[in-house]
Amino acid sequence: MEINKFLKTTVAAAAVSAFAGMASADDVEVLHWWTAGGEAAALGVLKDDLASQGVGWQDMPIAGGGGSDAMTVLRARVVAGDAPTAAQMLGFDIKDWAGSTGNLANLNSVAEAEGWDAVVPAALQDFSKHDGNWIAAPVNVHSTNWVWVNKAALDAAGGKAPTSWEELITVLDAMKANGITPLAHGGQAWQDATIFDAVVLGLGADFYKAAFIDMDEDALGGDMMVEAFNRMAVLRSYVDDNFSGRDWNLASAMVIEGTAGMQMMGDWAKGEFLKAGKTPGEDFVCIRFPGTQGLVTFNSDQFVMFDQGEASDSQMAMASAVMSPAFQSAFNVVKGSVPARTDVPNDAFDDCGKKGMADFAEANAGGGLYGSMAHGHANPAAVKNAIYDVVTAHFNGEYDATEAAEEMVNAVLDAQ
Ligand code: BGC
Repeated sequence: MEINKFLKTTVAAAAVSAFAGMASADDVEVLHWWTAGGEAAALGVLKDDLASQGVGWQDMPIAGGGGSDAMTVLRARVVAGDAPTAAQMLGFDIKDWAGSTGNLANLNSVAEAEGWDAVVPAALQDFSKHDGNWIAAPVNVHSTNWVWVNKAALDAAGGKAPTSWEELITVLDAMKANGITPLAHGGQAWQDATIFDAVVLGLGADFYKAAFIDMDEDALGGDMMVEAFNRMAVLRSYVDDNFSGRDWNLASAMVIEGTAGMQMMGDWAKGEFLKAGKTPGEDFVCIRFPGTQGLVTFNSDQFVMFDQGEASDSQMAMASAVMSPAFQSAFNVVKGSVPARTDVPNDAFDDCGKKGMADFAEANAGGGLYGSMAHGHANPAAVKNAIYDVVTAHFNGEYDATEAAEEMVNAVLDAQ
């Protein structure tokens, strides 16, 4: 992170924590990175739910998709002995915190009373539990292998949603010929990596697993990885010149407005479309990244509670609120994600949400569910960040595909 940005966020952290020090015992101070329009709307559902139970909210937002900046601030706060009450966290970060510091609150009492074991899929429990104890409450399941397409732009490009890499290229070419930016993208490492998740998965589930979950050297540096980087370079050619540093929600806005044809992004993007009053099937179309139908790369936002030295009713109330079936429906309808429990009806969800729920259930049952590398569910942060560096350097032309595959092996080995 740039120094200025670090100082800004750290000073903001100190300022908010000073305020939080005056908070009542019934408040929760929540560190999160939900600052885009659709994300903030979803967060509002949680704040309102807690307010209705008499639990106040101290907001600690740290902008930055994917949460890397939020994790930096969180570390600074905890090192300074000033942990927030609760924090949004992803996959391996939860494991790291649980394993290294041991200062995450144990949620077993509420989990047992409410029967979380029976309703939270095992793939999520793997991240919510440490040594058999519940230490995180999963609020949702997102997945990264989605494409969000402007419906009018798709119609003008032939009207057929692509289902293979070749069909995808045909549609992107047609959009280019129609004078719009075919692919809306923001040049930030986590966004490059989000597309990379889907590109690697599109070359085969076995390849995705071997490279990102098993970190197999042959997969990391072999021909398939070279092909993955070749495909990234092809996608790069459909991005506009101003992509560098653009936030993901501004890329979503380009698709919403129709100045761009599509965005390859996790389903939090749907929150932006909904916030803008757009309807799936009419204004936009949600498809799985071509070639990844039936497969899901998931990430689950979970809330951990930092041990405050004494049992906190408000922390338990928050954990309980997050896990209530009614809340999981209301929240995820707005957020774009799907519930983290198997017993939530899909009635309130739009067509993309219903598809998301069905895809997740199918992938979970059929062995097609994999943790997202880009969003911290495939490997620890050090490995993830090493992969980010290679993917971004290649996307920006520093390596060709062969060099990038070689660098990938070195980076992952060094980071382990
Ligand atoms: C989180 C989402 C969030 C997205 C963009 C992901 O890592 O899981 O909840 O909306 O980053 O900030």
